[in-house]
Amino acid sequence: MTPDERKQALDEIATEVRGCTRCPLHLQRNNAVPGEGHPDTEVVFVGEGPGYNEDREGRPFVGAAGGVLNELLSTVGWKRDEVFITNVVKCRPPGNRDPEPAEISACAPFLRRQLEVLDPALVVTLGRHSLQTFMPGARIGGAHGTLQPVDPQTGARAAMTYAMYHPAAALRQGSLRETMTVDMCAVPDALTDARARRSAGAPAATDDRLPAPAGVELPEPAREELPDSPADELPDLVAVAGLATVADSDDQMELFG
Ligand code: URA
Repeated sequence: MTPDERKQALDEIATEVRGCTRCPLHLQRNNAVPGEGHPDTEVVFVGEGPGYNEDREGRPFVGAAGGVLNELLSTVGWKRDEVFITNVVKCRPPGNRDPEPAEISACAPFLRRQLEVLDPALVVTLGRHSLQTFMPGARIGGAHGTLQPVDPQTGARAAMTYAMYHPAAALRQGSLRETMTVDMCAVPDALTDARARRSAGAPAATDDRLPAPAGVELPEPAREELPDSPADELPDLVAVAGLATVADSDDQMELFG
């Protein structure tokens, strides 16, 4: 897929999202929030669902949690328009309640199609609901800061997923801010790892990708002819090199994330 084709495909998905009536969340929305970012990026951040400000603007992570996300990105020299940011559900759950399983299921095809188009090397999960989509059964207190192969059924056919707390967790519990900063600082290494795994599984290919964001010295990414089951060739769970997971109490941290 060329960069133009990728952009057009993402725009088409966004148009469908804006007209979606697949679940009751559409009844109360002001705006659906398809997601946004660079169509040629290798890194996709996936949050939970739009909040009040996102519903007003139709854009992801533009409220207080978005401010935290922007600051975290800046700690590694990245900007939000260099990555792609989306959510598990594209319409705001009333009162910012958790999205229900039926709502997540109804919306899942949109995220899967976005990932098929973007074909990222790295999916960064933000919070519990995103974590369950990419690391089913994992608990945020233990999983944050770890890297794991993505099931290609998610739409990301040869990606690793890296777990983080939800940025809103840092607003609720200030002490998590340091943990999240440590976790974010490991994201460029996670991307390096994910790229290496894609390259190892496939010959270099042809089309263009967004260059590494500022401050990240990486070799040109290899586009690939992928093996049939890339996930089979990867270890089950890989802690990001050099950055041990901060020891948290799962019981306490499950409330946040
Ligand atoms: N929280 C999310 O999970 N997503 C947004 O877009 C905003 C806040």
